Amino acid sequence: MPYSDKVLDHYSNPRNVGSFDAKDPTVGTGLVGAPECGDVMKLQIKVNPDTGVIEDAKFKTFGCGSAIASSSLATEWLKGKTVDEALAIKNTEIVEELALPPVKVHCSVLAEDAIKAALKNYQDKQDAGDGAESRRA
Ligand code: FES
Ligand code: FES
Repeated sequence: MPYSDKVLDHYSNPRNVGSFDAKDPTVGTGLVGAPECGDVMKLQIKVNPDTGVIEDAKFKTFGCGSAIASSSLATEWLKGKTVDEALAIKNTEIVEELALPPVKVHCSVLAEDAIKAALKNYQDKQDAGDGAESRRA
């Protein structure tokens, strides 16, 4: 199946590969797997706690070219967005940007799930920091 130029570009030159320390309170980590194929994606954000802006994002994906391209693109889109803006990123936007064919749509869903999981992990950490005692009981 032919990959689009944008997929090939992100696949051969992936942006923001790597990891942050998952224990860092300003870091949110999302780790998700695709039931369709078993591919796994880890996506992390690093948030400025004062501004709520995502200052950096990294990913590691064990998967197909479309999954790697989707996560690479996601890290580019995440940088500079607030947590709320990041929540609005849709897998359909990734499909459109990368011109993914129907059988590869789930690869973009994996990226959206990874974004949401990373944001949730970050939010949970902030909540735990504010009201930890009552929550942990
Ligand atoms: Fe083989 Fe995704 S199905 S890498
Ligand atoms: Fe399963 Fe791409 S993530 S084929």
